Amino acid sequence: SSLLYNKSMNYSILTDQLISLIDPELPFISNLSNLLACLHNELPSLNWTGIYYYSKNSEVLYLGPFQGKPACTIIPLGKGVVGTCALKKKSIIVQNVHTFPDHIACDSASKSEFTAPIFKNDKLYAVLDIDSDIYSRFTEQDIQFLKKTASLLSDLISSAKQEIS
Ligand code: SME
Repeated sequence: SSLLYNKSMNYSILTDQLISLIDPELPFISNLSNLLACLHNELPSLNWTGIYYYSKNSEVLYLGPFQGKPACTIIPLGKGVVGTCALKKKSIIVQNVHTFPDHIACDSASKSEFTAPIFKNDKLYAVLDIDSDIYSRFTEQDIQFLKKTASLLSDLISSAKQEIS
């Protein structure tokens, strides 16, 4: 059951682990890739962990770094859980994706989903998307932790010294 995760998950240790992976001298994408890999491997029952980049000009989100199976590459703003999260600029948690009218099934194993916006200097930059292969995977404690992780990513991209050129 999802209660099991509450008991076994030590979020203060995991947060320290995430922070220790960050090298502020590296490009954002390098830090981001390692943070996503850490989340995906440390949190039980996840089948997909990644980000979608928001393109203001084309009003779509493009697939970014992730762990899991190959996924949809382009999501229109307002479509699916990811596109709705981007449109509303708010976290969206879907405990049963089959009840979300607009859900985009990239991996048929996905049963519940967490999304949160990532901002670069207060402007929408990307969406953090985490899928689980069990229903109701995300407890209130998980959600608080993942929202904090999304804001850590916002801080990281906002203060990134360099992009790859
Ligand atoms: N399920 C998402 C699409 C992205 S994949 O899950 C990786 C959605 O409905 O937006």
